[in-house]
Amino acid sequence: MLRLCYALAVLALSNPVAAAPPLTPRATLSLDIWLSTETSFALDGILANIGASGAYAKSAEAGVVIASLSTEDPDYYYTWTRDAALTMKVLVDLFRNGNLGLQTVLEEYVNSQAYLQTVSNPSGGLASGGLAEPKFNVDMTAFTGSWGRPQRDGPALRATTLIDFGNWLLDNGYSSYAVNNIWPIVRNDLSYVAQYWSQSGYDLWEEVNSMSFFTVAVQHRALVEGSTFAGRVGASCTWCDSQAPQILCYMQSFWTGSYVNANTGGGRSGKDANTILASIHTFDPDAACDDITFQPCSHRALANHKVYTDSFRSVYSLNAGIAQGLAVAAGRYPEDSYYNGNPWFLTTLAAAEQLYDAIYQWKKAGSISITSASLAFFQDIYSSAAVDTYASGSSAFTAIIDAVKTYADGYMSIAEAHAMTNGSLSEQFDKASGICLSARDLTWSYAALLTANMRRNGVVPPSWGAASANTVPSSCSTGSATGTYSTPTATSWPGTLTSGSVSATTTITATSTTASSSSSSTTTTAVCTTPSSVAVTFNEIATTNYGEDVYIVGSISQLGNWDTGSAVALSASKYTSANNLWYVSVDLPAGTTFEYKYIRKETDGSIVWESDPNRTYTVPLGCGVSIATVSDTWR
Ligand code: NOJ
Ligand code: NOJ
Repeated sequence: MLRLCYALAVLALSNPVAAAPPLTPRATLSLDIWLSTETSFALDGILANIGASGAYAKSAEAGVVIASLSTEDPDYYYTWTRDAALTMKVLVDLFRNGNLGLQTVLEEYVNSQAYLQTVSNPSGGLASGGLAEPKFNVDMTAFTGSWGRPQRDGPALRATTLIDFGNWLLDNGYSSYAVNNIWPIVRNDLSYVAQYWSQSGYDLWEEVNSMSFFTVAVQHRALVEGSTFAGRVGASCTWCDSQAPQILCYMQSFWTGSYVNANTGGGRSGKDANTILASIHTFDPDAACDDITFQPCSHRALANHKVYTDSFRSVYSLNAGIAQGLAVAAGRYPEDSYYNGNPWFLTTLAAAEQLYDAIYQWKKAGSISITSASLAFFQDIYSSAAVDTYASGSSAFTAIIDAVKTYADGYMSIAEAHAMTNGSLSEQFDKASGICLSARDLTWSYAALLTANMRRNGVVPPSWGAASANTVPSSCSTGSATGTYSTPTATSWPGTLTSGSVSATTTITATSTTASSSSSSTTTTAVCTTPSSVAVTFNEIATTNYGEDVYIVGSISQLGNWDTGSAVALSASKYTSANNLWYVSVDLPAGTTFEYKYIRKETDGSIVWESDPNRTYTVPLGCGVSIATVSDTWR
């Protein structure tokens, strides 16, 4: 098998980081050209690793993301909850930016996770810890071999990915799918996070069993956006609201004063890509350079970037002779010994991505401020940097932005230099020779390439609400809260998803208040859309006998135009002897008035209608109104 990278030849001829002077315009141009083909190669590489149609994942179930096709040395032919969630997040963001062809793979991913949540495994069952099982067999059976488990970042990352897709559904007229298909899975994951976040578990590298910065940072994010998402689907997440501020408080303890410590255990320096990945996966384009949430442009995150990247300057001979201020090959952590310890593509790309995120945030803020904490980072790339604030329009602001961009591109160029000639990205590349190592065609490497490239082009993900979730309570505890677990059942989807099916965009002012034990902060966010369709949940109290089913039928096509053969079935999944509830959510055109009735279908197929008169309802039409509930009782 041809596994050689073309590293050496490229290094000799044009590697922009091998020696001073730093990147030349020609090198930047070559990076642009490489990225223009590498990005489509990466997307193809991801899709090839997703069952059941992916070329390398034919034996995987639909929607199951394999980590790599490599089945030995190492065997990565499994699906990891973390790798899958981070990969599908990229696909959701490509989808929301217009790649609607990804619809089927996104839906299949959602369905696969609905099922995987129910698979009992060595970490537990659905409601007893099983959501943090790190990996499964590709046929969606449990992996029962010994492993570093549980890994508590998985449920949080999956919730974030599903919420991103769910918000798109809510914004584009498919609210009932957010309510029925997405929310039950997300609610389980949020319940897991709130219940277990304060217990130790394995870090993302599956080695250290302690508290881990990446894990708590992505958990905090998930609970914050989970609470907002719950509101949008007509629910609430009290357990999110109580635990998110506590996690934020705990996150502060990882700041050493000069960098972010990755793990409370492990006995290492704590300098680790864990913390860079935390910063890019909690990047919020609407947030300022906030230290409390470790935003990419924050003083803490920039100081940390320097300490982390510098830690590899002496441990990889590939980095020998590269001056401060020029990009280096970066790995998981300097003490790593996996395959003798080498740089990884996804971590080197993450070092670039954080800087592109920071550039976005500075441009948006209109200034760059340098403090004593971040000064050393800036001085490496801009020697006249000083503790000061540089406003946009000043020559220093422009010079710093250019220097950071050049520096970030240097990390991208290292990935370019060590990719295989056909564009393949493995997991690692040799610390001395630069030759590709370990798992080939690692799905996560491709995902990392795509997100870094998007940020390089100023394409950012939706906000998760960091700007209003950065108040640390005055007294904190490492506690827990109980949520709700239920088996996700809805797995049918519309034939086609089309974007922009919102009737109008209205600018209003919505005020949300975040309260914590000591303080409350009020933020104002603008812009809301008036959905053209609303997910209307019909709740009907109807006492039935076993075998009898309740349907809704009415004067509009969505309710079968009074044809009982086209009536919409309600679900009895919440029916109890104390609460005879039948329910269903249906997407209906906003503002439409119609008539309807419930009917009961008997075991022999005969139909019993409710008594007259017909019921009438008008679907609400309003800014931000994407869901509604109708409560009826059989008559
Ligand atoms: C396999 C894990 O996936 C990897 O992260 C770890 O470094 C090695 N096992 C060694 O523990
Ligand atoms: C090993 C990595 O350490 C871990 O983070 C990853 O989930 C697995 N490999 C699968 O890619």
